[in-house]
Amino acid sequence: MTSLICNLAGVALRNPIIMASGTFGFGREYGELYDLSILGGIASKGLTLHPRSGNTGCRVQETPSGMMNSVGLENPGVASFLENELDQLVASNTAVIANLGGANLEEYVNGAAQISEACDLRQRQGQQAVDLLELNISCPNVKEGGIQFGVDTEVARQIVREVRQVTSIPLMVKLSPNAQDIVAMAHMCEQEGADAVSLVNTFSAMKIDIYQRRSAFQNSYAGLSGPAIKPIALRMVHQVSHAVSIPVVGMGGISSVEDIVEYIMAGAEAVQIGTYNFVNLHAGEELVAGLTAWMEKEKVQSLDEIRGIV
Ligand SMILES: Cc1cc2nc3c(=O)[nH]c(=O)nc-3n(C[C@H](O)[C@H](O)[C@H](O)COP(=O)(O)O)c2cc1C
Repeated sequence: MTSLICNLAGVALRNPIIMASGTFGFGREYGELYDLSILGGIASKGLTLHPRSGNTGCRVQETPSGMMNSVGLENPGVASFLENELDQLVASNTAVIANLGGANLEEYVNGAAQISEACDLRQRQGQQAVDLLELNISCPNVKEGGIQFGVDTEVARQIVREVRQVTSIPLMVKLSPNAQDIVAMAHMCEQEGADAVSLVNTFSAMKIDIYQRRSAFQNSYAGLSGPAIKPIALRMVHQVSHAVSIPVVGMGGISSVEDIVEYIMAGAEAVQIGTYNFVNLHAGEELVAGLTAWMEKEKVQSLDEIRGIV
């Protein structure tokens, strides 16, 4: 009787549990540990039009109740993803979300167009393709001195608008918690035709190596994730999901079934699991089983009964 099914912008998810971008690769390694088809979906490692080797120096640091990362979007590029990763992701029989970043507007638009054209072709050949495009607007805008595109609503608007024009794949914009006004940002995404928003990406943070007398990270700042950010991310998901009518996917610090239930009660249609995948390699399967058991125990037959009730 218990149903965990979710409807994310017309994409039917088996359950609300999606693996977050950058913490699950393309699923290959985790697929050796458990059956990925039990998941609601997988968001790919952040892709860019061209391959990137990422940042040098320190890339990750553990913090109290979390971690900082400055990986620098290391990835094989869109073309290699389409050629070498998409087939096995599709074969995992869960919703496939392609996460796309960029260093400038052209890179975002050309990357989205390339994914879109390849997916159109696959569909004409009867093959499954990418189910959702997740647009990561937290990338540094090189022209603006490295400030994230996702900080200023009008800067981000241009990216969402132009990407929307080149793709008919359901579009989910992933918001930065560093946005000047995250509710205005979500409204903008809705106005520009996004089908969903996901939030949050990592919080801009810092660690100083006191003996070297400089930042521990090459790019001065790094992104904070994990349980430390959960209460703030939850507040943002609550604000955004009460302000827009498109679905909201919540994330930030989820490491238990209770955390997932909090996000759903705050209004999230689905959730993403990031840092916790590094703590518990079986996070996905344990959380799916745990959420099912929780719903049975609490006599919740559908997540619609508790979604947005707070
Ligand atoms: C090591 C690492 C790499 C990440 N890479 C990406 C990425 O490529 N694209 C993206 O949109 N988010 C990326 N993220 C952000 C996560 O997807 C997620 O939004 C964030 O970590 C908050 O969730 P969490 O607290 O559950 O980890 C990365 C996070 C971590 C920890």
